[in-house]
Order: sequence, then C-alpha cells, then structure tokens
Amino acid sequence: MVDNFNTPQIIKLPQILDERGNLSFLEEYNHIPFKIERVYWIYDVPGGEERGGHAYKENREFIIALSGSFDVILDNGKEIKSYSLNRSYYGLYVPEGIWRHMENFSTNSLAFIAASTAYQEDDYIRDYEAFKQNKS
Ligand code: TYD
Repeated sequence: MVDNFNTPQIIKLPQILDERGNLSFLEEYNHIPFKIERVYWIYDVPGGEERGGHAYKENREFIIALSGSFDVILDNGKEIKSYSLNRSYYGLYVPEGIWRHMENFSTNSLAFIAASTAYQEDDYIRDYEAFKQNKS
C-alpha cells in the first residue's frame, strides 16, 4: 500500500510463484489507494512514439507494464522524475495534479492503467504552461 497518497511511487504487487506460471493481482483500497472506476490499456505503440503529455485535475492512476517496458516521466511542477516499468508485478501510482508522459515503449509492450474516475475530457490539463502556472 502507498505511504503517501500525494506522492508518486512504485508499488510491488503480490506474486504467487508457481511452476505452472506465475500470478499477480491487485485490489482497490488494498494495493492501490483508490476505487477503480475505469481501466484502459495502450498497445501497438510504434517505435519512438510518446503517449500522454497532460495532467489530471482529479483522476488518479496506477500504471503497470503488463508486457515489455516503457518509461513514465512525471513532473510535479518542481521536479521531473523518470520511472522505468518493465515487470508485470510492479506498478506506478500517480496522484492527481502531476504532468506525465510515457515514452521508450518496447516492441509489443502493453501498458495497463487502472484509473479512479470515468473518462472526462474536462478533467484533463493539456496546456503545460497552464499546468505550471497553477503550480506556482
Ligand atoms: P488521451 O488520454 O488523450 O491519450 P494520450 O494523452 O496518450 O494522447 O486519450 C486519447 C483519446 O482516447 C482521447 O480522444 C480520449 C480517448 N479516451 C477515451 O475515450 N477513454 C479513455 O478512458 C481514455 C484514456 C481515452
């Protein structure tokens, strides 16, 4: 579970190791600190492409590289940090109000995202200058 709801952090999920194949899982309010209202996934990303490039006003997310690898770059308005995701039993918790983008997708990578709100375009901040101003 996260130790601070306002701070991005890597969370290790349970692993049930088995000679027949391994299993991991996550439960809302247990391994991640929110109720899941939506899941979506990003796949078939062409080499060199980036996704994201926005912040959310309210939505919180938990991002897992279910397959392959990619980097998530987070910007809280003061500092920028890069997180490499490459294992299906680690995820990155991203609270609201963080500018983020995803890059460096490996071939056949699969990004799975659990989100705390339904999709609402008006929850997005897509203007970086507006984001920065809001933070200052
Ligand atoms: P968006 O979140 O803007 O992706 P990115 O920031 O990587 O470009 O989503 C791309 C499009 O998909 C956008 O038109 C909205 C739509 N979309 C939904 O309809 N539902 C969803 O849950 C998500 C995440 C996106």
